[in-house]
Amino acid sequence: MNIIKVKNYRELSYLGAKKIADQVAENPYSVLGLATGATPEGIYQHLASEYQKGTLDFSQCSSVNLDEYKGLSREDEQSYYHYMKQHLFSKINLPEERIYFPDALAKDAQEECRRYDEDIEKLGGVDLQLLGIGRNGHIGFNEPGDFFPAATHCVSLSQSTLDANAKYFPSKEEMPKEAYTVGIGVIMKAKKILLVANGESKREALRRTIFGKVTPQTPASILQFHPNVTIIGDEEALSFWND
Ligand code: PGA
Repeated sequence: MNIIKVKNYRELSYLGAKKIADQVAENPYSVLGLATGATPEGIYQHLASEYQKGTLDFSQCSSVNLDEYKGLSREDEQSYYHYMKQHLFSKINLPEERIYFPDALAKDAQEECRRYDEDIEKLGGVDLQLLGIGRNGHIGFNEPGDFFPAATHCVSLSQSTLDANAKYFPSKEEMPKEAYTVGIGVIMKAKKILLVANGESKREALRRTIFGKVTPQTPASILQFHPNVTIIGDEEALSFWND
């Protein structure tokens, strides 16, 4: 694992965006695995402004998002599709037909999971996967459990995740309790992984990810087995790391 400790969220966002921009410059046909949440917002801001300056071109790229709340339409303001539109897709030239998301309204959830994995396979897999990390060590919505689920699947969100994300919903009752997520197998097949984390609340999860035993109780710990992982954390999240 390549661990990079930066001063603060500003530096994390700048460096995270640079890694993605370098990937796109190196391979304009890159398949980008994208994440939602508070952490990547700064990265997306930088990418959008690089595009607007004319230094980045996404016209040949594809994107595959990690997860989506089950039952939310794309127009729903709380959907991750809407988040991606708002923070990135409406500001860059990534063609709509190359934006991949689970269809959260699909009638047959199992079939939808199978179809999503098939789409990712057809794209040739993900070149660079951006990840955040949950306070409980989840990646995507792969919550702590008894095994590492390989394929895209539906999950019941853990209490920790429900608590962390309740702030985005008008009330706790309106928050979906289930979500689609790509599996750990899909994440591990990405050629490169970039995990970003800031703040004290992520410290314990990061410490277990880097130094802990590889266990599905800390889903991100599986990244110890991936050959090309970069973790960018700020001083609070990586306070235990001396470089
Ligand atoms: P956050 O979420 O960026 O909003 O902290 C990260 C995650 O849960 O993966």
